Amino acid sequence: MAEETARRGSIYAGAAEPCAIILFGASGDLAKRKVIPAMYDLVQHNSLGERYAILGFARTPMTDDSFRSTIAEAATTISEVGPIEPAKWDAFASNLYYSPGDYADPESYTKLAKRLAELDAEKKLNGNRLFYLSTPPEVYQDIVENLGKAGLAKPSAPGSWTRIIIEKPFGRDLASAKELNKIVLNVFEEKQVYRIDHYLGKDTVQNLLVLRFGNGIFEPLWNRNYVDHVQITASETLGVERRGGFYETAGALRDMIQSHVLQLTSLVAVEPPASFDANAVRNEKLKVLQSIRPFNLEMVAQSVIRGQYSPGKLGDKAVEGYRDEPHVSPGSRTETFVSMRVLIDNWRWAGVPFYLRTGKRLAKRTTEIMIQFKRAPHIVFREKDVQANRLVLNIQPAEGICISFGAKKPGTEMNIGNVAMDFNYIKAFGNGSRSAYATLLNDCLRGDATLFDRGDSVEAAWSLIEPILDVWSAAKTATVPEYPSGSWGPKESDQLLERDGRQWYNP
Ligand code: BG6
Repeated sequence: MAEETARRGSIYAGAAEPCAIILFGASGDLAKRKVIPAMYDLVQHNSLGERYAILGFARTPMTDDSFRSTIAEAATTISEVGPIEPAKWDAFASNLYYSPGDYADPESYTKLAKRLAELDAEKKLNGNRLFYLSTPPEVYQDIVENLGKAGLAKPSAPGSWTRIIIEKPFGRDLASAKELNKIVLNVFEEKQVYRIDHYLGKDTVQNLLVLRFGNGIFEPLWNRNYVDHVQITASETLGVERRGGFYETAGALRDMIQSHVLQLTSLVAVEPPASFDANAVRNEKLKVLQSIRPFNLEMVAQSVIRGQYSPGKLGDKAVEGYRDEPHVSPGSRTETFVSMRVLIDNWRWAGVPFYLRTGKRLAKRTTEIMIQFKRAPHIVFREKDVQANRLVLNIQPAEGICISFGAKKPGTEMNIGNVAMDFNYIKAFGNGSRSAYATLLNDCLRGDATLFDRGDSVEAAWSLIEPILDVWSAAKTATVPEYPSGSWGPKESDQLLERDGRQWYNP
């Protein structure tokens, strides 16, 4: 398949081409929990054909066999692998290989190149290669540069392809994201680079585009004339778990807003693309990010709220505060919650606030987009208190769409009640949904970058949040409001909407 021909809108015929997938960070949590299970998912659904090799690379010394046992053990413990068919699993495991190495040592890449050439010849992989960076971001530069030096970044044979998937976080601010783009694009061409944001692989996130552009009834209302405001919530009940060390250097703004939440915002706000292919879709998404009003000092003070979870209760269970979590400094000022008001300065959205919110240890795990429509312009009924329509897209976990509207209550009087029409993914389509990682891997194997981030939009997202990071890092003594675990965040977050005469929709 030529590099640029795959299109998300097309049906993939048959399995992907033979290839080697080289998984850096193969002994890590993400690899075991999500990435390797996604590969198995592809095998199980025959999206990965007979000829493939998965070559793990990490510092941990292991042989092919011990790597296979580690992965098999993970499949029964931490891994998010779906139901296993023993015969398919055995065949899958026999295609797993391992090459220990030091990310910074060029010698390790010479060995890797040799191993790849052997696997290629043995399994007739046609020289196709996908490098997957599932490591801490600190080693991205070493890996990319060493791949370049070892001659592994260029297609290895005429007509073959070489691609690279890079996990988030892609940089930790604008300067580092630019620098990383530079490093990567010194070695690879943009069309070889797939920057992953797993939210884009979720069916319900892609369905946002289908809802808007595959139906005739929503799009005419999808603008400032009918929409009062939009709320996007990505709330988690989990705390930072074992990731305290990483999280201390990140915080919710970097970890969730810069990536997942801005992706959702772009898809809600995006103009219809001319076609469903990587360039058209990504051009339009970039324009949304470029239209968001840049934050200045005053806007940060007024429109961005941060918070940190303190001890509290989740259901009946008492849970610790963020500062008591392992690897978290007792005096930490890292935010575990952010809510903010964003304005999109374009014709469609002028004057329509988008309220974004994310946090850990909140009352409920949910990712939802709520479109609040304006009230009917003139209510002729005696009962004037008719609620405005609301469209809620539940991205996870109760995947579905719900639209609420007023209906006459039965009886002799004209009384109006609020009712809902509900679409539930599982009821409609069954429980067969694939993992977001499987969808994205499958796309990448076919050369379709529509659901991956492009270098310019990663930088645009960092540019947006950079002023907020700057204000926060300058305000070294400002207090970070606390919120009890199990709540919906600090009271300042409620006040953000109350000042605008609105309130959060808490599912
Ligand atoms: C990751 C963040 O990108 O997304 C995590 O680093 C977060 O902190 C996770 O928990 C949420 O993903 P999901 O798919 O569980 O909503």
